[in-house]
Amino acid sequence: MSIFNIFDDQSHNNSLLGAVFTPLPAAVAVIEKFGLFEKWIAGATMFDPTAGEGNFIEAFVSIAANRGFSMHNLPLERLYGVEMKAVYVERFFQKMRNIYGIAFPTRNFICSDFLLFNENIQADYLIGNPPWLNFTELPDLYKPVVKPMFHRYGLVANAQELLLGSSRIDFSGLIVNKSIYENLKPGGEAIFFLPMSLFLNDGANRGFRAYKVKDVHFATKEIYDYKNQKLFPNVSTRYGLARFERNSLQTFPVPYYQQNEDNEWISLSANPVFAVDNPLSITQNDEEYVTLSMFEKICLPKSAQPRQGVNTCGANEVFVFDTFKKMPNGLAKVTNKFQQGIILPQKYVFPLIATNNFNEKKPKARKWVLLPYSPTGKALEWTDIEAETSLVTYLQKHEMRLKMRKGTMLQGQIKKGYWWAMLGVGPYCFDNHKIVWESFGKKHFHPILLSGNWQGNQAMHAFMPMQTLDLALETLSLLNPSKVQSYLSSLQMEGTCNWAQPGKMKKLITLF
Ligand SMILES: C[S@@+](CC[C@H](N)C(=O)[O-])C[C@H]1O[C@@H](n2cnc3c(N)ncnc32)[C@H](O)[C@@H]1O
Repeated sequence: MSIFNIFDDQSHNNSLLGAVFTPLPAAVAVIEKFGLFEKWIAGATMFDPTAGEGNFIEAFVSIAANRGFSMHNLPLERLYGVEMKAVYVERFFQKMRNIYGIAFPTRNFICSDFLLFNENIQADYLIGNPPWLNFTELPDLYKPVVKPMFHRYGLVANAQELLLGSSRIDFSGLIVNKSIYENLKPGGEAIFFLPMSLFLNDGANRGFRAYKVKDVHFATKEIYDYKNQKLFPNVSTRYGLARFERNSLQTFPVPYYQQNEDNEWISLSANPVFAVDNPLSITQNDEEYVTLSMFEKICLPKSAQPRQGVNTCGANEVFVFDTFKKMPNGLAKVTNKFQQGIILPQKYVFPLIATNNFNEKKPKARKWVLLPYSPTGKALEWTDIEAETSLVTYLQKHEMRLKMRKGTMLQGQIKKGYWWAMLGVGPYCFDNHKIVWESFGKKHFHPILLSGNWQGNQAMHAFMPMQTLDLALETLSLLNPSKVQSYLSSLQMEGTCNWAQPGKMKKLITLF
C-alpha cells in the first residue's frame, strides 16, 4: 500500500490527519499582521507545506481581490502549497476557478506527502497550520515511514526514543523542522499555528526546543498563545501562533502574548527555567523570572522520586472498593457498586486516596485498592496467590476481564503470565509515609503527609515516597507550597491533566 492510499482510505478520517482548516478570515488576519501580502507583491515567495484546501494561499489572493488588484497579473508563481490528500487539492483548484476566476499554476499546489517531498522549493516565508497530532495518534502503517524522520530532523536522539518517553512527540514539530531546514531561505521566517505542547509540555518535545536541525539553528521570535480564544471550533488542543527565524540563535526571553477578557493582547515573557530545553515558563516580567530561577531545589534520596498513583488499566471494578471491613484470620470484606461480599486478604488491600482527604485533618479512608503485589513492588507469583484461597478465587473469577485490558506495557506483563498486574506499582507504593498532592486539573499546590500505606489514584495524585517519618516531616517543611505553585503556574497548565505531574515536580528536586 502506498503512502497516499493509507490516507485516502476512508477509515482515516479528517481528524486522524489533523485536518482542521484555518478559517479564511483568520488566515487573512495573520498575513496582514505580519505584512506578508506586501512582501509577496514585492517579490517574496510563500510556502505552506501542509496546505489542506489552501486557505493560506487563498488568503493572499483574497486580499488582492479586496484591494482591487487584477486577478490576472498576480505573482501566483511565488505561492506554493503541498497537501497529501487529493480531495483537498482538488477543492483548492475549484475555489481558485469558481471564486476568483483563476487557473492556479498546477506545479505550485502539489499533491504529495510533504515528508517524502524533495522538490527544491526555496521560500522567503513559510506559513501554515501543520496537523496537530502526536506520534501515537498516527495511522499504524504510517508510523514506520515517519519514525526515522524524527531523528533525521533533530527531534529525537534516536528512533528508539519514540517507543519510550517520546511517543507523544508532536507531528507538527517534524513539519516545522523539515520545512525550515529544507525549504526556507537563509534568514527566512516561518509563521505557524501550532499546538502549545511544543513549547509548554515536558518530555516528548524537548528535542524541538533545541531549535536546531543538524547545523541549522532557528529561533522562536514570538508566540501568541490563544489560551483564552477559540479560533478553531471543536478543537480542544491548546494552540498558538509562533514566528521563527532561520539561521538565528535562540535567545530568551521570547516575547509571549496572551489575550485578556477584553481580547487585548497582553505582553508577557517566556523563558525556560533550570535548563534551556525545559518547557517555557511564562512570567509577567524579568523580576518574576529571576525569582523562579532562584528556586532552591530540595535534596532528596533517589527513593523519594515523585511518582504517579496506581493504575488498574481500566479495571477499577475489579481492583477498587467503596467499603472495607476487617474480618477474622487476616481477611477483609470489601464491596463496590458492582460486587458485594468479596473476601480478600487484608494485607493486599490498601486505602486509596480520594479528593476529600486533602481537606481533612485526619484523613479517613473512603476507597480501597487491591494490589496483588509483594512489598518489593513485584507482582505476586501464582504460587503466592494460590496460597491465599480468597485471593485465588477472586482473581480467577475475573481472569478473562483482566486479560482483556489494553496497553502495550500492561500487555507485556500479561504475555509473561502476570494477568493480575497493574501499572504504577513499585516498592515505593509500600513506603509507609507519602507526601501527596493533587496533580490533575488543579491550580493550587497543596501537599499533605499521609502515613499508613495510602495509595495514589492514577494521574489524579502524585506523591513522594518517604522511607522514614523524619524524612517526611523535614521534606514537608522544606517544600514551600507557594513557591512550587508559582513555578507550576508559570508553566500555564492550571486546570489541565498536566498541572503537577511527577515530571514537573522532579525539576524542583535534586536526587542523590
Ligand atoms: C491542520 S490542516 C491545515 C491545512 C491548512 N494549512 C490550513 O491552515 O487550512 C493540516 C493538513 O495537513 C495535511 N497533512 C497531514 N500530513 C501531511 C503530510 N505528511 N504531507 C502533506 N500534508 C499533510 C492534512 O491532510 C491536512 O489537510
